[in-house]
Amino acid sequence: MATTFPDIPTVVPAALAGAFAAARPKLIDKFGRQITDLRMSVTDRCNYRCVYCRTGEESFTPIELPMADYLRMVRVFASLGIEKVRLTGGEPLLRRGLVDLVRELSEVRTSTGQPLDLAITTNGHLLEKLAQPLKDAGLNRVTVSMDAVEPETFARITRVPGSFAHVLRGVRAAREAGLGPVKINCVLLRGFNDHQIVPFAEFSRSENVIVRFIEFMPLEEDRIWAPDTVVPLTELLERLSVFRPLVALPANNPSETARRYTFDDGMGEIGVIAPVSQAFCGACSRVRLTSDGKIRTCLFSHFDHDLHGILRRGGSDDDLAAFIEATIQKKEARHHIGEAGFLQPGRTMVHIGG
Ligand code: 5AD
Ligand code: SF4
Repeated sequence: MATTFPDIPTVVPAALAGAFAAARPKLIDKFGRQITDLRMSVTDRCNYRCVYCRTGEESFTPIELPMADYLRMVRVFASLGIEKVRLTGGEPLLRRGLVDLVRELSEVRTSTGQPLDLAITTNGHLLEKLAQPLKDAGLNRVTVSMDAVEPETFARITRVPGSFAHVLRGVRAAREAGLGPVKINCVLLRGFNDHQIVPFAEFSRSENVIVRFIEFMPLEEDRIWAPDTVVPLTELLERLSVFRPLVALPANNPSETARRYTFDDGMGEIGVIAPVSQAFCGACSRVRLTSDGKIRTCLFSHFDHDLHGILRRGGSDDDLAAFIEATIQKKEARHHIGEAGFLQPGRTMVHIGG
């Protein structure tokens, strides 16, 4: 005999929906910052040796985890309120199985039932062939690290001859695949590439990409950082406005790190990221996961929090979630670059993941 069930309302009454909304899991640190943005490194290998990042030598044994483990950790982060996932490295496009990982990540839902916002930061060397497959797998956006638009300067920075042509083709392929708006990250080092400021402004206008200038941070292996290697925001804006008058654009969201500008004719977009001269730690919404599965609560943190260790020892999703929640409470208030007693973190950018 068939069992009959009482009618179950398919629409949640407004009052109840409010109660659910209030109970949604969120990662909020002890300074009240809501953490919504995960940057996950899927390899610490890289095919470039950018001077502001790595040494010229191969100096470490790479560590990568099975893709299934990254996927599981992201699922738990998403259940706790992470909304954006940015895949990084090292160079993430070197990682075999990346397109499949993106496809699986595109199926993951946030704690409010939305798809994750999926982005990648790459040096662009292998992007020409991968842009379309990544887009088809569900990637939303791409940021390409590119520190010169002049091939010789580019090769001097990456220490790979002929690298510029690859990256340019990669940027164009990403734009054609619909992975836009394509963002270009340019780390400025005085004396190395600061003569590229105006050429980059022109590049933004001619290639229809967003160029973001980033102040150099002390996260490199060669320890070349000094206060005078940084081109501060104020100087950069002055140099850009000699080219053409700048017009400020509104921020896309409250935790956006870049100040946005266009020029007086509305062509081109420039972002300025000034973590050194105008730190934005108070609005930070980020947490990082290294390629060996350690949580980093800040780029300048001195601690690793071994999330993957819990997974390896057979921990449940609840165990992983409890560990993530406890770790977020340890997020540092801010960095101390340029202050007396500042200690560069033991892990450099290529190992932390941008
Ligand atoms: N300072 C500032 N930005 C850096 N990046 C890498 N190393 C540094 C540094 N020392 C940038 C890269 C990449 C992003 C993830 O971080 O250009 O685009
Ligand atoms: Fe590789 Fe990025 Fe470091 Fe350059 S900055 S060496 S592309 S990880």
